[in-house]
Amino acid sequence: MKRKPKYRFLLFLFFFFLLIHTLELHSQVRSKHGMVVSANRLASDVGIEIMKKGGNAIDAAVAVGFALAVVFPEAGNIGGGGYMIVRKADGTCAALDFREKAPRSALSDIFLDSAGNVTDRITRGCMSAGVPGTVAGLIQALDDYGTMKLKDVIEPAIILAKNGFEIDERLRSKLIEYENDLRPFPSTVKLFFKNDSLYQEGDTLKQSDLAATLIRIQSTGIDGFYKGETARLITDEMRRGGGLITEDDLAEYKPIIRKPLIGTYRGYDIITMPPSSSGGLCLIEIMNIIEKFNLDSLGYHTSQSVHIISEAMKCAYADRAEYMGDPDYVAIPVDRLISKEYASLYSAKIDPYYSTPSESIKARVVREHPNTTHYSVVDSSGNCVAVTYTLNDLFGSQVVVDGAGFFLNNEMDDFSSKPGVANSYGLTGGYANSIEPGKRPLSSMAPTIILKDGKPILILGARGGSRIITGVLQVILNVLDYRMDIENAVNAPRFHHQWIPDELIYEKDCFNSDVVLNLQERGYHTKEVISKIGALEIIYFDSDSGWIYGVPDFREGGVAVGY
Ligand code: GLY
Repeated sequence: MKRKPKYRFLLFLFFFFLLIHTLELHSQVRSKHGMVVSANRLASDVGIEIMKKGGNAIDAAVAVGFALAVVFPEAGNIGGGGYMIVRKADGTCAALDFREKAPRSALSDIFLDSAGNVTDRITRGCMSAGVPGTVAGLIQALDDYGTMKLKDVIEPAIILAKNGFEIDERLRSKLIEYENDLRPFPSTVKLFFKNDSLYQEGDTLKQSDLAATLIRIQSTGIDGFYKGETARLITDEMRRGGGLITEDDLAEYKPIIRKPLIGTYRGYDIITMPPSSSGGLCLIEIMNIIEKFNLDSLGYHTSQSVHIISEAMKCAYADRAEYMGDPDYVAIPVDRLISKEYASLYSAKIDPYYSTPSESIKARVVREHPNTTHYSVVDSSGNCVAVTYTLNDLFGSQVVVDGAGFFLNNEMDDFSSKPGVANSYGLTGGYANSIEPGKRPLSSMAPTIILKDGKPILILGARGGSRIITGVLQVILNVLDYRMDIENAVNAPRFHHQWIPDELIYEKDCFNSDVVLNLQERGYHTKEVISKIGALEIIYFDSDSGWIYGVPDFREGGVAVGY
């Protein structure tokens, strides 16, 4: 029978969307030399160009960090902070902490109103901003581990800011989503609105104020941001918007080089971020508990394997809330938390069938937001870099520093502003993470490198707030325990339990209906969610073939570029 044109058209549409979907899920690339995987093509290209000019992975990572601040303004930043794990080809490793800090005048009750309730000044406007760490962190990484000059690695970002770039569908849709939040801030409106309307997809966004800020950094290094004109513009913005950051806060900011946390898992080495992020600590704790079980024999996404993994997640998130905060302010029992003996105490208590109710584990809390960005870099010598940095929420505090052209973070919201009170995510925070002058708010960022026999297997990390840890975890388990190829390991639907709320959330198609029913019988409160459980940017090394795979997570829509 001859098909009618209408059906032919529908058939065409069906195959068209199938093709788009397939392309979306197959955006991995492979190369033999270097690779950059980031949330944005222009930024990934910048990193590759730096390596082609002879720069190493650290030079490329610094260039990508500055470039993302231009082309991915919703999360890439110079007004925020983050973490970097470096593993050099000679095996030496470092963890760079450039997390934001509370301004000196930030006291523990600063976000409470007269009735003792937390106000929205913790999430929006100048007061929500911590002292930014990104510029100092990137420059420190370059000085300590890079080979190129700052003027050369920052140049591509300056060109992108000056010449502009085309607003893509993703940025446009985020601007629409946040339009009402952004509008109250005139300096932000100046940047993203034309004749009182948001820029359209395809419009060119030129950022001359941001270019001028980057040029000041290019000329005078960290002083170009933390002193002089940029510092003056930031503090002027603080005065106008009732913020707390002073010139002294800026001048005093220093990133910290820390010893990475090292864990092991079934013969693999895990190199990850120590506090002030909870990310690495929780990751190792969870993996130590899971290691006591044979996941492979329990099966993939069976109710029994999900039960074991969820119980391990709950234990680590409970410890996160109880013990974790800025190590300069609270004594964290790190060695104990990542010891195999400590994991045995938990694994021995896991009921073989039933879920442990969260309130019977412990009762403290965390808060966080899922808007951050991660990128992974490797060069032809084998130097590896994992960077996760953030403004906290998308567009951070929503305030652009007038005349300086960049968003300020709203990282004060990662503190527990009132211990015991739940935030919009249903999470509450502990005393270890209360606000104190000069303190770093607790993070979940978990830039991580996995090795086998001293050779890198994975460079990874994620965006996703408190779901960063469980997102990173599941990709690692998919590769190491379930031996999935890397693309399936990333694309596979994920689940998440963060102890409080006592809820096992999962992405669409994560479990079949029998598994959900069985988990409910075991006492789990299950909920399918539309939001994503982490979004990763990964580099995978196939030791058999020698290929390096760059794998962006379709959840983020990032781009891998290799050479
Ligand atoms: N602001 C998200 C995090 O630091 O984990």
